[in-house]
Amino acid sequence: MKTQLDSPVRYSQRCVFLCILSSIVCTGAALAQLPTVTVHVDKPGAPPTQIGIFFEDINYGGDGGLYPERVKNRSFEFPVPLMGWQEIARGGASGALAVRDEQPLNANNPHYLRVRVENAGEGFGLANEGFFGIALEQGKEFTFSVSARSSDATPPSLVVQVVRADGMRLGEGRLSGFTAGWKRHTCTIRATATDPKARLNLLVLGRGTLDLDMVSLFPRDTWKSRPNGLRPDLVQLLADLKPAFLRFPGGCIVEGRDLSRRYQWKTTIGDLAERRLIINRWNDQFRHRPAPDYFQSFGLGFFEYFQLCEDLSAAPLPILNCGMACQFNTGELVPLDQLDPFIQDALDLIEFANGPATSPWGARRAAMGHPAPFSMRLLGVGNEQWGPQYIERYERFAKVLKARHPEVQLVTSAGPRPNDDLFHFLWPKLRELKADIVDEHSYANPDWFFKSANRYDGYDRYGPKVFMGEYAVQSVRTASPDNRNTWECALAEAAFMTGLERNSEVVMMASYAPLFGHVEGWQWTPNLIWFDNLRAYGTPSYYVQQLFGVHRGTHILPVELKSGETTPTLYACAARDERSGEVIVKLVSNSAREREVRVQLAGAKATASSGKAFVLANAELKAENSLAEPTRVAPVEKTFPVTGAEFASSLAAYSVTVLRIKSASE
Ligand code: AHR
Repeated sequence: MKTQLDSPVRYSQRCVFLCILSSIVCTGAALAQLPTVTVHVDKPGAPPTQIGIFFEDINYGGDGGLYPERVKNRSFEFPVPLMGWQEIARGGASGALAVRDEQPLNANNPHYLRVRVENAGEGFGLANEGFFGIALEQGKEFTFSVSARSSDATPPSLVVQVVRADGMRLGEGRLSGFTAGWKRHTCTIRATATDPKARLNLLVLGRGTLDLDMVSLFPRDTWKSRPNGLRPDLVQLLADLKPAFLRFPGGCIVEGRDLSRRYQWKTTIGDLAERRLIINRWNDQFRHRPAPDYFQSFGLGFFEYFQLCEDLSAAPLPILNCGMACQFNTGELVPLDQLDPFIQDALDLIEFANGPATSPWGARRAAMGHPAPFSMRLLGVGNEQWGPQYIERYERFAKVLKARHPEVQLVTSAGPRPNDDLFHFLWPKLRELKADIVDEHSYANPDWFFKSANRYDGYDRYGPKVFMGEYAVQSVRTASPDNRNTWECALAEAAFMTGLERNSEVVMMASYAPLFGHVEGWQWTPNLIWFDNLRAYGTPSYYVQQLFGVHRGTHILPVELKSGETTPTLYACAARDERSGEVIVKLVSNSAREREVRVQLAGAKATASSGKAFVLANAELKAENSLAEPTRVAPVEKTFPVTGAEFASSLAAYSVTVLRIKSASE
């Protein structure tokens, strides 16, 4: 039997011809000449490598991305307090704007804005530029809200407008009735047109003084329509990956450039106005891509992450600071005898996630609307740490956490690179300490990834499990601004991933990194998903992740590959899906030519006359997706006839092919 993988329409037109052709071409003798992939269907092994998501607020992936607050610097806490804001005066109005701190909203949010209007004119106030503009969609509603106060006997009122660059009004709301104490005021604004780059005007009408804080323009259209919810098109892209886990919140932002700027989960939960803003670690990391307005508001905080995990049916994997700042920056260390608060943070996080609603931290979770636990079973101790300093700190964490929470598996760091001295120092130590899961990172060129498809074949089956926690092919060099998300990169990742899946008994989990990049606001490239203020698309790498995640199956199957090649261009792995009774074969061809391979299902018989094929291919290795052409490289689903447990499969040039064949043991 011959499997012809082609466009579905052309395929069906040629089907009859091919069935005749197959009996001519695919005699046993002809098949025997082909590169052969033998899948041992009767020898199911471990669950296949979990394909998950690595989320970090880099490239405006959080504030300005997944977290769809439209107002930048909503709480006037940026060090340049009016960054993102601009004074406006209409019809002869005049006054003054001042950022002040007496009797603030709360101690974590110490600044607010005082608008003093001297000449009322037609309104005095300020405009917000948003994140690369304020995105509006025609007919969509927004909740405008602000904490405000005025001690005036006749307080002024506030007009809220969203306007186009040329000043045309695209929506308006009004607020009045301000009182002497802080109070939250809200109104609805409906956009009359679509504009990715509108701005928000706040015009105080009437002479007097008005204090403003936590100014928010939040879309009603969020994931699951939640207030303070996430941007739905971006979450949908994540959901379509069917991720097995979600690692958050990073990445280097866990560590901070110094310890004062590390990520502290406790400051990211509860009332939004109480969440203490900090500088984003990527704000000033790359001189070639400065992002002076990049901060973390924590509107997307640990509660929202856990909620997202639940929505995606993904296991939560938080990574906590282990008393070390980023070793690429200051490498600041918490002395060992002062590590207890950091370990306590980990214990409290476990209680926040898993504890009963009656426990102190479980009660905080319940108060946020989730009395049921989040079932967290994985926890990362440090991000990309190295050296004896890391081992000493990990040991202290492990001692306490293993005694108190043996149900939680700990993820430990193997450093920033997959094969250097730091890596070779850490691995033996972690093995000796019987670490649960070791997090390896690899950013390398396509060649490294193709060649590393057999990286895990020789790994110890009885030691710690591997989490390939950050990886991505770099078309130029690590984090180069010239890196592109080409099809070649994705193809190399796919070849590598066959090696992950074949070694699932060792490689427990894997996640591409980073996840998101705003087309106007990135610091790091490549990224899995690119977006602007209104649109988003998956890269070829995204579709590779999706193919491996969606077609994961329940048990890996041993695969033998006989290609006769000296330099491999064919890669394969296989799994069984007990739920659907299918064998799943993943084939990666790094050949410029279409070719046939022979697939043998050993120890099984096919039980249906056709199978499904999911093909991701492009003859042009430099092909990319883009906002204009989001699915230039995207999988195509086809069916193919199945007449037995041995068949020829035609692989397109430069392709990833997933075959699903119903089968049963012989
Ligand atoms: O993915 C981008 C960065 O690469 C991560 O923050 C860090 O862990 C790694 O160095």
